[in-house]
Amino acid sequence: MCGIVGYIGEKNPIEVLINGLKNLEYRGYDSAGIALKNESQIQVIKSVGKIANLEEKIKEENLITSHLGIAHTRWATHGKPTEENAHPHTVGKVTLVHNGIIENADELRNKLIKEGVTFHSETDTEVVAALINKYYENNPLTAINKALTELKGSYALGILFSDSNDLYAVRKDSPLIVGLKDHEYFIASDIAAIIDYTNKYILLDENEIAHITKDNVTVTKNNNVLEKKVETTNMEQDAKDKCGYDHYMLKEIMEEPVVLQKTFKPYLEHLEKLPDLTSYEEIHIVACGSAMYAGMIGKTLLEEYANTKVEIDVASEYRYKNIIYDRKTLVILISQSGETADTIAAMRKAKENNVETLAIVNVKTSTIARESDTQIFIEAGPEIAVATTKAYILQVGIMALLAYKTALTKNLVKEEHKVLEEAEKLPRLIKEVLDRREEYKKVAQAIYQKEDIFFIGRKIDYATSMEGSLKLKEVSYIHSEAYQAGELKHGTISLIEDGMPVFAIVTDETIKDKTISNIEEVKSRGASTILITNEKYQTDDLQIVVPKISPYFQPILIVPTLQLIAYETAKLRGCDIDKPKNLAKSVTVE
Ligand code: G6P
Repeated sequence: MCGIVGYIGEKNPIEVLINGLKNLEYRGYDSAGIALKNESQIQVIKSVGKIANLEEKIKEENLITSHLGIAHTRWATHGKPTEENAHPHTVGKVTLVHNGIIENADELRNKLIKEGVTFHSETDTEVVAALINKYYENNPLTAINKALTELKGSYALGILFSDSNDLYAVRKDSPLIVGLKDHEYFIASDIAAIIDYTNKYILLDENEIAHITKDNVTVTKNNNVLEKKVETTNMEQDAKDKCGYDHYMLKEIMEEPVVLQKTFKPYLEHLEKLPDLTSYEEIHIVACGSAMYAGMIGKTLLEEYANTKVEIDVASEYRYKNIIYDRKTLVILISQSGETADTIAAMRKAKENNVETLAIVNVKTSTIARESDTQIFIEAGPEIAVATTKAYILQVGIMALLAYKTALTKNLVKEEHKVLEEAEKLPRLIKEVLDRREEYKKVAQAIYQKEDIFFIGRKIDYATSMEGSLKLKEVSYIHSEAYQAGELKHGTISLIEDGMPVFAIVTDETIKDKTISNIEEVKSRGASTILITNEKYQTDDLQIVVPKISPYFQPILIVPTLQLIAYETAKLRGCDIDKPKNLAKSVTVE
């Protein structure tokens, strides 16, 4: 899961490439590099760490004059994040950047070593460069096509040849687009990288090769020239600006009322636009990370209020399990990026078994959006911070509406008008919750020096706790775990020490008394509890009380408080909030 950008045109490529890399840093940021090409040479510059380090290094170099270049930001898979392993990689006449994983890299490497190739890095990417170089005589397309027949795995590649002035690109199971402008062409892992220059692009499909000259683009597959549709995006430029906020994470949290108004409300007013889940005997929800936790909220609501059988799994497990599809099943895939490798594999597994797929997805041009049978677009706009916030809220919102519609169809909704009235108030209520920053700062002050924190809840509150815990640990690096409140005493309670913070989420009317007893259990063992609730309790615990609304939508008001507590805590700890270490926003490798 790396980011690729490439440029050919009138400009000096450096500006385009660095700007593109910065916009792609969310895809990984442990090292970066560029290759510039002119008539006589290719200049490669690489550095470990963030793009800013590469920029510094470039300033010290004597750059060649050029109008063609490729660049890469890396999230290490094969080999440590060192300069040797950073892309671009050069073997012979071939210099390239790669996103994805070559599964038979070891086998190919051994073969190539026997044929006399010397490798300088531990990467699978260098193997691709060596393979293309092996087949390169004087025709780049022939060499690429031959190499593709031997590669197993996923790849998006931007390729330069030392004796050609053109740019080549190809992809399989990793995203890549070709951006178009008058007399300028780009390649990029996603449109965000090049939106400052163009909103027009071509989507490359599996194993299609783009041959890009300074005057045109030709796309071929198996040597047949293809007619490609030019797509236009209207992604607003300001989605990429911080708009005065210190961090994208904060900006994106603050956008929650707006995106909820834009996406959630139209569906609320036109439930008929959502699929009818009652025609299936079983629902499977499959996703990764926060998207999976949004799915957990969906599962709880569907089971609890819509009497619907739901199985849920993380995609990395689901794809390899023996799933018994013996009833009429719908597989719901939840993914912000639509490019998460495991979620894609889970979708394909369902399709191979002739099971219908529904994607709840943000990026419309993504693989999951294109390959699933039905889509619900959450329309969160670009999300730049690695930790998802506004997209997660919309995933939860859509799952809540699906549960609500299902319950309605089954005549299970009591006080329908009240539920609807409350749902309509959500954008305003969430704004009120977000505006209480001082309360979250106070909680952050109380926890930021701790090293272990627990979250507890039952039923829907447990599902919410999972996301609260994940958000906190991913941005603040504080170890935290979420537990079903009733399960803590079966082992984990032995870890509770004096002053250890325990967040308790208490909103579910049907079970809250039990959770309150569990709170007492941890308090009597020294824990400092922080209640996140929808009604005030007479205790001296720290409390965040959000407005009480229909249980379908209650998590939508609880989660922003947890997001902001995570944000404020990370800020106090001086963490790199928008780009937490070791993470990537879009995990396009398994
Ligand atoms: C990564 C991100 C998470 C995200 C997960 C699934 O791990 O850091 O924030 O929830 O991938 O991503 P998706 O794009 O499929 O929602």
